[in-house]
Amino acid sequence: MFEKRPWSKLLVLLLCLLTCIFIWHELVSYPTGIAPTTPTAYTLFTQDDTGFADRVLHLPENDYSQLIDLNFNFTMINFICNETIPLLLILVHSSPNNFAKRKTIRETWGRNDDNVKVVFMVGSVNSTQLQKRLEIENQLHKDFAQGSFIDTYRNLTYKHVMSLKYFIYHCPQAKYVLKTDDDVFVNMPTMKNFLRYDLSPHGASNGLFCTPRYNSLVLRSYRSKWRVSFAEYPDRVYPTYCPGWTILYTPDVVFGLYKEAQKTEYFWIDDIHLTGTLTQKLNFTHTDIEPLILSKNILNRIVYYSYNYSQPFIYGREDLIEKQIRGLWNYVTTREAPKYIFRDIITRTK
Ligand SMILES: *[C@@H]1O[C@H](CO)[C@@H](O)[C@H](O)[C@H]1NC(C)=O
Ligand SMILES: *[C@@H]1O[C@H](CO)[C@@H](O)[C@H](O)[C@H]1NC(C)=O
Ligand SMILES: *[C@@H]1O[C@H](CO)[C@@H](O)[C@H](O)[C@H]1NC(C)=O
Ligand SMILES: *[C@@H]1O[C@H](CO)[C@@H](O)[C@H](O)[C@H]1NC(C)=O
Ligand SMILES: *[C@@H]1O[C@H](CO)[C@@H](O)[C@H](O)[C@H]1NC(C)=O
Ligand SMILES: *[C@@H]1O[C@H](CO)[C@@H](O)[C@H](O)[C@H]1NC(C)=O
Repeated sequence: MFEKRPWSKLLVLLLCLLTCIFIWHELVSYPTGIAPTTPTAYTLFTQDDTGFADRVLHLPENDYSQLIDLNFNFTMINFICNETIPLLLILVHSSPNNFAKRKTIRETWGRNDDNVKVVFMVGSVNSTQLQKRLEIENQLHKDFAQGSFIDTYRNLTYKHVMSLKYFIYHCPQAKYVLKTDDDVFVNMPTMKNFLRYDLSPHGASNGLFCTPRYNSLVLRSYRSKWRVSFAEYPDRVYPTYCPGWTILYTPDVVFGLYKEAQKTEYFWIDDIHLTGTLTQKLNFTHTDIEPLILSKNILNRIVYYSYNYSQPFIYGREDLIEKQIRGLWNYVTTREAPKYIFRDIITRTK
């Protein structure tokens, strides 16, 4: 009995030590940084920008069949914008195997209409059986764009640039472009009001609306999925960037970033590369929309406890499960979408 005591003390000490290391690691891995104050960046249009047809003319001749440093083609594609001028084109990055997630999005916030067009972006898959399933899904819904690169997370920058390519060549008339993921909730009725009334139905320029991350440290720990070697990225911190689950672009920003990405060396963390490194290089400015995003806590109170939340919001968080997405959809479609309130909120965060 007595001999066991020192052991248990040692164990407690060891546990404390491990906890401390864990907390320290979390703090160092996910710094929040301090938001610098920035002037309002974007410019709202008072009439339609008709310059989009010309932009493609300024790209190299073989640009369409190039994706950064790869030869490229779309192995599946749908021209969902033909003969319409959508207010919003939504490019949803999806993993080929995520059949259920795409189904949930199609049945909730991602329904296509005249104003909103949704495309699921996937890369190539190894198995002919999986490819068959994707083709059947595509025949049914006609909402895929598949690129000829292999769909892996180290290839996500290819996917992001392919999404921008889809906009530039096949839907350049869209007023706004949203890049998001397949586990996110978008409050589409309120989003439409936000674009139409708080921004402009004619579009805007220099718009990069997201939840910027400032002074994020480059992760060097071998345990991190996002570990980056010194050879890949030598600096200690990343430039201000947008987490990839909600990036609202204006067309000029998409065009600038695409053109720059095509001639810049590949870096595999897509949101850092495009909305950080290249955005900084081109002097585009981030606009912080953090106040328009639900906290996980309120989100769960709405979904699981029928909480009647009175504040407007445009997004739920990332990494949601089907029940949360359907619950939020049910919530927002049984209420009137607010109008003319967000510009004020965005301005106040400056
Ligand atoms: C598309 O690209 C892939 C891989 O580069 C190639 O194997 C295929 O032949 C190309 N298809 C067309 C139609 O060009
Ligand atoms: C693709 O399949 C080949 C052979 O079947 C396998 O060696 C390779 O690891 C697979 N690649 C991926 C990305 O799954
Ligand atoms: C990315 O895609 C390219 C083209 O299909 C492929 O050659 C390469 O192996 C992929 N990279 C990774 C890390 O999967
Ligand atoms: C839709 O537009 C694309 C160009 O973006 C064109 O190649 C295609 O033929 C058009 N399809 C239809 C059905 O009009
Ligand atoms: C970005 O701003 C800097 C400093 O104002 C300037 O030197 C640079 O030329 C600008 N770059 C572009 C692409 O406009
Ligand atoms: C939710 O609250 C608003 C006032 O904030 C009220 O007008 C509305 O009736 C409430 N809805 C429900 C379902 O309780």
